Amino acid sequence: MKQFISAADADIEVLVQKALEYKIDPFKHSSSGVHKRIGCLFLNPSMRTRLSTQIAAQNLGMESLVFNVGQEGWALEFEEGVIMNGSSIEHIKDAAPVLGKYFDILAIRTFPSLKNREDDYSELFLKQFIKYASVPVISLESATLHPLQSLADIITITESFKEDRKPKIVLSWAPHVKPLPQCVANSFAQWINAWDKSDFIITHPEGYELDEHFTQGATICYSQDEALAGADFVYVKNWSSYREYGQVLNNNSSWMLTNEKLKPTNNGKVMHCLPVRRNVELSDEVLDGPNSIVTLQAANRVWAAQAVIASMLGV
Ligand code: CP
Repeated sequence: MKQFISAADADIEVLVQKALEYKIDPFKHSSSGVHKRIGCLFLNPSMRTRLSTQIAAQNLGMESLVFNVGQEGWALEFEEGVIMNGSSIEHIKDAAPVLGKYFDILAIRTFPSLKNREDDYSELFLKQFIKYASVPVISLESATLHPLQSLADIITITESFKEDRKPKIVLSWAPHVKPLPQCVANSFAQWINAWDKSDFIITHPEGYELDEHFTQGATICYSQDEALAGADFVYVKNWSSYREYGQVLNNNSSWMLTNEKLKPTNNGKVMHCLPVRRNVELSDEVLDGPNSIVTLQAANRVWAAQAVIASMLGV
């Protein structure tokens, strides 16, 4: 595996099974990464992604170094052919080849600006790293997708659902206090569609339609109550508008998931990628109740990352 930036780079079932094997026996390939290094570059904050990736690398015997590029590094330029007489100090064409010499694998987190859809959805930052680094690249979340999160989400659904039928999975928009990227929702839709082992419904208020490139195949429902009926899994997430790019169109608090809203589900398990705004996106009673599997989901980030890094090491 040379890159891991979307579902298109993955054999999902192989990675899920590999991850579940690492969950049982974390150190079974503990010498495969010895004398190798992964560089984890963050242009934005993180807790789960950073720590789970480092633990995964360590389980495989790799050394991991974290560089908070956004806070500690030189301001990077990503556009080709620009006259660099502004605020950026170093071009990615010069920085990425150096990083490629220091590390065997590079892992990168970038975020969208939420100002210009075309720019964000071009994934220029990630593409420029891949183009100039000359080593395998893992996305730790990009402007449009969060593939390690989505792999962990499918691992969690796989181990939580043992019935001999397809689960009904609902991705439910939730209110938030500020505009958030679409990447977790895009990514979940892309991976669930590619996995093709569920009945998948996305519910949100009108105006929050995601990019059809990622949602294709999913049923879209503007009634949350209708969508939740019979759900086995409810994935709660806020995102800002894709159509009116980056805008918060409606912050209707009635979309917050509560125990009352869970009643018509099939004892639905509740998922969220975290961090979560309590009593805005999800009520305390849901997060602290028996249906919440958010901690399991976050814990599975280690096994998702380990399966991906191992695949890059050829294990
Ligand atoms: N879910 C997730 O990516 O969490 P962090 O932002 O803490 O890495």
